[in-house]
Amino acid sequence: MLNLSIDNMTVVLINSLKLINKIVVLIIKKINYLINLLSFKINRIEYPIFPKINGRVFIKNKGTMQFGENVVINSDMKSNPIGGDNKTILICTEGAKLIIGNNTGISNSCIYARNEIRIGDNVFIGGGCKIYDTDFHSLDHRKRRLNEAETEVVVKPVNIKDNVFIGAHSIILKGVTIEECSVVGAGSVVTKNIPPNEVWAGNPARFIRKIQII
Ligand SMILES: CC(C)(COP(=O)(O)OP(=O)(O)OC[C@H]1O[C@@H](n2cnc3c(N)ncnc32)[C@H](O)[C@@H]1OP(=O)(O)O)[C@@H](O)C(=O)NCCC(=O)NCCS
Repeated sequence: MLNLSIDNMTVVLINSLKLINKIVVLIIKKINYLINLLSFKINRIEYPIFPKINGRVFIKNKGTMQFGENVVINSDMKSNPIGGDNKTILICTEGAKLIIGNNTGISNSCIYARNEIRIGDNVFIGGGCKIYDTDFHSLDHRKRRLNEAETEVVVKPVNIKDNVFIGAHSIILKGVTIEECSVVGAGSVVTKNIPPNEVWAGNPARFIRKIQII
């Protein structure tokens, strides 16, 4: 009899904790929404519909950042555990452009534009990816030490076209175009252009096979 009542108390306690947890999660979601909205406004992000953002995205825009409709950004472990040890970071330096198309999803990834990065419609960017249009530093060790040598750094636009799927933890480097409907394998480093409807993978990413749409 006594055992039963202790069991009942435990159940009540667990249910109460579950309820408190639900309320806290809801409050955090509301706070995250407000912080993300504020960040979008402060950074002058252009969007027709505010993206669905899970977690908090870090944004710094000194150029032009445009989002299409129905963009989804995961920036925490809960919404996507893959790459969940990272947050989504979107950066556009002075005069740079970052354009993201409709229905595109980004998970726990870093996109850094010093020149121009275009991402098309229906693109899947897996957890923990990095997309850079710059080498960040000069290859000349003397210039690397000087801040004014930033102008010497190689910068080339990146273009990821419609329906591309980039596997988790991949890195897309400067000057790369990935054509429509192609797939990049997990953990790849893409240094060359990828034609349409092909699977590429590895470091450096190489052609794996054609994608047949039946
Ligand atoms: C690229 C991918 C789609 C290929 O899948 P698949 O068509 O079933 O390919 P297979 O497993 O048959 O592999 C074909 C060849 O590619 C190689 N390969 C596959 N994925 C690779 C990768 N990520 N890196 C390097 N090589 C890879 C295989 O070793 C194999 O090589 P081989 O022919 O010399 O033996 C898959 O491996 C992958 O990386 N998926 C992404 C998963 C992911 O990150 N999801 C997002 C989570 S957020």
